[in-house]
Amino acid sequence: MIRLGFKLNVLIEPEGKKLNSSQPIGIFDSGVGGLSVLEHIHRLLPAEDLIYIADSAYMPYGSRHLNVVKERCHLLADFFIRQDVKALVVACNTATAAAIEDLRQNFQIPVIGMEPAVKPAVEATKAGVIGVLATNGTLASEKFSRLVKRFGSDAEVVFQPGEGLVEQVEAGHFDSDDTRKMLLMYLEPLLQQGMDTLVLGCTHYPFLMPLIRQIAGDDVVILDTGDAIAEELKRQLEAGQLNAPEDVKGCIRFFSSGDRENSLNIISRLWGVDVAVDTIKL
Ligand code: DGL
Repeated sequence: MIRLGFKLNVLIEPEGKKLNSSQPIGIFDSGVGGLSVLEHIHRLLPAEDLIYIADSAYMPYGSRHLNVVKERCHLLADFFIRQDVKALVVACNTATAAAIEDLRQNFQIPVIGMEPAVKPAVEATKAGVIGVLATNGTLASEKFSRLVKRFGSDAEVVFQPGEGLVEQVEAGHFDSDDTRKMLLMYLEPLLQQGMDTLVLGCTHYPFLMPLIRQIAGDDVVILDTGDAIAEELKRQLEAGQLNAPEDVKGCIRFFSSGDRENSLNIISRLWGVDVAVDTIKL
């Protein structure tokens, strides 16, 4: 499920400068989870220059007060504006729940956010029971309550906070015993309640997919929204005539607010090649 941004034909930056197709796109998350979204964006829009920020010094967002997350989002968006981006992707469900309206009000570029795929899940379920695995911040947000009220009434929607899973992904523990124990503890009750469709409501969780699949079994439909976000970004770029010419090859820059060595290791591991990571203090 995507939260649509505004649609303008002429998009103007705060200084009044007209946006253009050669500018980069900014993408951020509390940490490395948003790389699962970056992958979809890079695959769909290989000509675009992309800037990714892992706000690892403030991870996990899910257990922070929404106002703290909002403030981080503001600082990150300011940084991206200084990098001259033409669009911003909030590759984090928790940050979207906390700050998307605020970002759209304050930054005059397309801002694309994400939210748990409740609507597609309700359409997909046959048993009438869907599970939503997400952070506490997302599940407790008003935005999520509105989403469930709007789209969830035709199914039983069971919420499950994924406490600790973000930290496991950040530490690179994708298939450790601890991660397995946590996932068993979270998913078994959902399966016992008859869940046949599981929504991954946090961008870190796709990195745990092999374990989640093993525990949930082959019959459970598992949904995440990375591909839908990439499609929505493409649609908005095209609407504003901001898409990069297809004959160029885009580059990707990585930044992290966390420890340099850790960030370098985990980002390179998840991205599948050794990458350079610049550290930032915001
Ligand atoms: N990846 C973030 C999300 O989609 C999780 C964040 C966190 O708790 O840091 O919600």
